[in-house]
Amino acid sequence: MLQTFSEPKTSKMAIPIVKAPPMVRISNAVKRFPGLGRKEMLVALDHVTVEIPRGEFVALIGSNGAGKSTLLSIVMGTMLLDEGSFHIAGEDMTNRPSWERASKVALVRQNPEHNVLATLSIEENFALAMMGRAGRFPLKRYKREAVRHAAHAALSRFGMGLESRMAEAAGTLSGGQRQAVAMAMAAVREPQVLLLDEHTSALDPKRARVLREVTEQVVRESGMTTMMVTHDMGHALAETDRVLMMHRGRIVMNLSGTEKNALTVPELASRFEHLVGEALSDRTILANAG
Ligand SMILES: Nc1ncnc2c1ncn2[C@@H]1O[C@H](COP(=O)(O)OP(=O)(O)OP(=O)(O)O)[C@@H](O)[C@H]1O
Ligand SMILES: [Mg+2]
Repeated sequence: MLQTFSEPKTSKMAIPIVKAPPMVRISNAVKRFPGLGRKEMLVALDHVTVEIPRGEFVALIGSNGAGKSTLLSIVMGTMLLDEGSFHIAGEDMTNRPSWERASKVALVRQNPEHNVLATLSIEENFALAMMGRAGRFPLKRYKREAVRHAAHAALSRFGMGLESRMAEAAGTLSGGQRQAVAMAMAAVREPQVLLLDEHTSALDPKRARVLREVTEQVVRESGMTTMMVTHDMGHALAETDRVLMMHRGRIVMNLSGTEKNALTVPELASRFEHLVGEALSDRTILANAG
């Protein structure tokens, strides 16, 4: 009698494929702030749920007050959620304070003055950034040569001559130069998640373009999972893997792949208007004019 097998023999030996968790998982996130009235609460994040795979470059766009910076603050740990949960690479970070995330997350803010310590030299700023890599109360001190080498390599990419000014106080730098230093410092820390909150918006167009280009190079080469807040929808559509459109504390669009790639800025704006019943804020329209 012929023996038959319904499945190949090897299937019994098959090793189950365990899917790696996404780099960022935000589930039902709610953040409220006291409003103007005595009992009134303002809902800055209204049950936000989103997953960001490892290595993805994500743009957060949307009108003023939509909740973009609040979402980054939740990831950074400078604010904690009122409801919901937040994981990095499968690890529950919901109630962990910011200093426990120092080795995992780096943030470049919009205001250049908030990103570097003005009274320290550029090199000293880098030394602090690199110490932050070790996490809480790091005892590991980096050798001066190692700091110089990393800082030199990271700064030379900007073509601003900053690598030859490392002994100067960071306070002597212009806004654009400070943002370049901040971006370079974030890169040498090699965080799992890089957060950029309108990091080019305080700069003149030429400097902003250079910083955007270097940002793309750094993000792509390092493979860091990146969440970038921007009002420039054209840049978001063209250069990132996913576009999250926020409005009044909610993610109203989550675009990726061919759907995102096929969209133009006017189509995105009209889709937004159709969806929420109002136009984008003046600032977003201005950032996309011309
Ligand atoms: N610390 C705070 N205290 C009180 N309200 C806050 C605080 N931070 C944010 N908010 C409010 O939460 C809402 C979302 O603010 P958020 O800064 O996240 O918006 P955004 O999308 O970053 O806007 P923009 O594009 O103007 O930067 C706004 O209504 C804002 O006024
Ligand atoms: Mg903001």
